[in-house]
Amino acid sequence: MYSDAELLHFITTEDPAEMEELFSAAREIRAGHYGKDVYFRGLIEFTNYCKNDCFYCGIRGSNKNVKRYRLSAEEILNCCRMGDLLGYKTFVLQGGEDPYFTDDRIVEIVQLIRKEYPDHAITLSIGEKSRQSYEAYFEAGANRYLLRHETANDDHYKKMHPEAMKLSERKECLYILKEIGYQVGAGFMVGSPFQTPECLLEDLRFLEDLKPHMAGIGPFIPQADTPFAHFRQGSLNQTLRMVALTRLLLPDALIPATTALGTIDPKGREKGLLSGANVVMPNLSPKAVRKLYALYDNKICTGDEAAECRLCMEGRIRGYGFEPKMVRGDHPSLQLVA
Ligand code: 5AD
Ligand code: FES
Repeated sequence: MYSDAELLHFITTEDPAEMEELFSAAREIRAGHYGKDVYFRGLIEFTNYCKNDCFYCGIRGSNKNVKRYRLSAEEILNCCRMGDLLGYKTFVLQGGEDPYFTDDRIVEIVQLIRKEYPDHAITLSIGEKSRQSYEAYFEAGANRYLLRHETANDDHYKKMHPEAMKLSERKECLYILKEIGYQVGAGFMVGSPFQTPECLLEDLRFLEDLKPHMAGIGPFIPQADTPFAHFRQGSLNQTLRMVALTRLLLPDALIPATTALGTIDPKGREKGLLSGANVVMPNLSPKAVRKLYALYDNKICTGDEAAECRLCMEGRIRGYGFEPKMVRGDHPSLQLVA
């Protein structure tokens, strides 16, 4: 459909008229599938322990300046209860790759949530696991899985991760998750160190091949205690262009206006929605641990209660003519026909 040259052109153009053309094309496609609706997901960041050591990430295992925390099963359930009271129909459990949370523990937590909330969507975002592990979580009642591929280019991947981490394995996880029957989210950072326009082209081609149900795209933002502390953050406009291009290539995908986008620009999430995004993920984590889940510096909403974020997002969205929807918001291919 789109040639490499066309995509590369739009990946890089800074021409205001061309960008507006791209954003409005993305808005139109999004409107065709979702109208003005914006789906809300409640994000629960339940552990900031991580055995990995990604060079960009603030909670990398070797960062000694992080105060580590884990929520208990009961604390996680309490977040879900708060989320349910606020109207959320999707809970997203995200954490570092924390060995304490064995498969048995994850299965137990998913079962507990599933028992109390039979109709809610449960999304996991806990990294690379074996097929057997993914199957066990699915059996327990998890429906969706977020695992950003981070970059689809092998050399670039190597520059952002320690040797033990392999892009091929990460990609394999995504295909396995799809096979099992999860709604799957891939995604990448924009403006990460050593990224070239060609890398971003590969990201788009990878998304076309995988056809994930969801795609999370946010700017890289340096974190002071990481090896990438002194690199520049990703650009707002390039991130918005990547959101829009992703909407063009995956017309009915669920695409969040990410917290990272809201962090680099006060209206970043709104601009994301105007560039083709249709999901927001306000935070449900207990206020006491918010600041500790610091993947990058200056993260927004770390001082706000769950209820405040819910209201704040609703106001922001309505202000731009969008309609907040507290529904499960499954991918259209999975919605039951009435
Ligand atoms: N800047 C922006 N995004 C980051 N992530 C991790 N570290 C950073 C950073 N420094 C993103 C990764 C990961 C997601 C949970 O957060 O893409 O998949
Ligand atoms: Fe969290 Fe606005 S969304 S305070």
